[in-house]
Amino acid sequence: MNKYLFGVIGYPAKHSKSPWIHTNFLEEAQLEGLYRAIEVKPDDLSEAIKGFKALEMDGFNVTVPFKEAILPYLDEIDSYAAKIGAVNTVALENGKWKGYNTDGKGFVRSLREAYPSFDFPAGKALVIGAGGAAKGIYHALLEEEMVQVDVTNRTTEKAMKIIGNHAHEGQTHVLSLQEAEEKISDYDVIVQTTSVGMVPNTKDQVLSLAGVSSHAIVCDIVYKPFHTSFLLEAEQRGANVLHGHGMLLYQAALAFEIWTGKRVEATQLLKEFEQQVK
Ligand code: ATR
Repeated sequence: MNKYLFGVIGYPAKHSKSPWIHTNFLEEAQLEGLYRAIEVKPDDLSEAIKGFKALEMDGFNVTVPFKEAILPYLDEIDSYAAKIGAVNTVALENGKWKGYNTDGKGFVRSLREAYPSFDFPAGKALVIGAGGAAKGIYHALLEEEMVQVDVTNRTTEKAMKIIGNHAHEGQTHVLSLQEAEEKISDYDVIVQTTSVGMVPNTKDQVLSLAGVSSHAIVCDIVYKPFHTSFLLEAEQRGANVLHGHGMLLYQAALAFEIWTGKRVEATQLLKEFEQQVK
C-alpha cells in the first residue's frame, strides 16, 4: 500500500497538535503514513521547499509565518484560497503543488457539527478581528450565504481591507468595537478571532457582550484557556457557545480529505483534544 508522507511547516512548529491529529486520522482511515512537524526558520523557506520537492511529499500544512510566503512556490492555487490570499494546505496533484485554505471552512464545519439546526442563510454574523483567521472565516461565512456578515476591528482600516467589495453589495458593514458592542443584540453568530484573552492574558476581553441574544452562538477561536472570559460572559448571558478547538480539528479534517479523498469523523478526537486543554 502507498505510504503517505505529510507534514506541517511553521516557525515555531515543535508544539503543533497537527501530527497528533493527522496520525489519528490516518489510523481512522486505515491508511499508512507519516506526518511530521517541520520547523523552518523564515529565511530558510526556499531551501526547505527544495527538500519537500525531493522527498515527493504528498501534502503539507502551512502555518505561521508562511501562509502568504508560500504562494510563489505553488504551481496552482484553488480559487477560494486565492480570494483569501493565504494557503494552509498544499497537495501534490499530478506532480504539481496546489494550494488550498481550509481554515475558514474548518470553522464553519465545526459550527455545523455543534449546531446542526442552525439556519445559515437566515442569520446575521459578526466577525471580530481583521487578521488572517478573520479573513478566512469572513469568506467562509459569506459562502454559507448568510444575509449579513459584519466585521469589527480595533483598526477599522484593516477590516475594510479584508472585505473587498462586499460593503458595496450591502452585505457587510465595518464597525468600530464600540459600535459593535451597541449592536450586539442583532447577531445570530459572533466570532472572536483576535488573540485577546489567550494565556497568559486570560482576563482580557475584546468587547463586552451585554445585550447578546439568548439564541446567538458565540464563538472564540482562542482555545487556551478552554473557557475564555469572552465565552464565560456569553454563557452567563444565556447565549450558546462554541470553543476554538473544533476549528483546528476540522481544518485538519478538510486538509486530510483533500490529500486522501477520505472523510474522517473528528467528533471523538475533538472530545479528547478538549480534555487535554481543560
Ligand atoms: P491572525 O493572522 O492570527 O488572525 P493577526 O494578523 O496578528 O493575527 O491579527 C490579530 C488581530 O487581533 C487583529 O485584528 C488585531 O487588531 P488590529 O488590526 O487593530 O491590530 C487584533 N488585536 C490584537 N490585540 C488586540 C487588542 N489588545 N485589542 C483589540 N484587538 C486586538
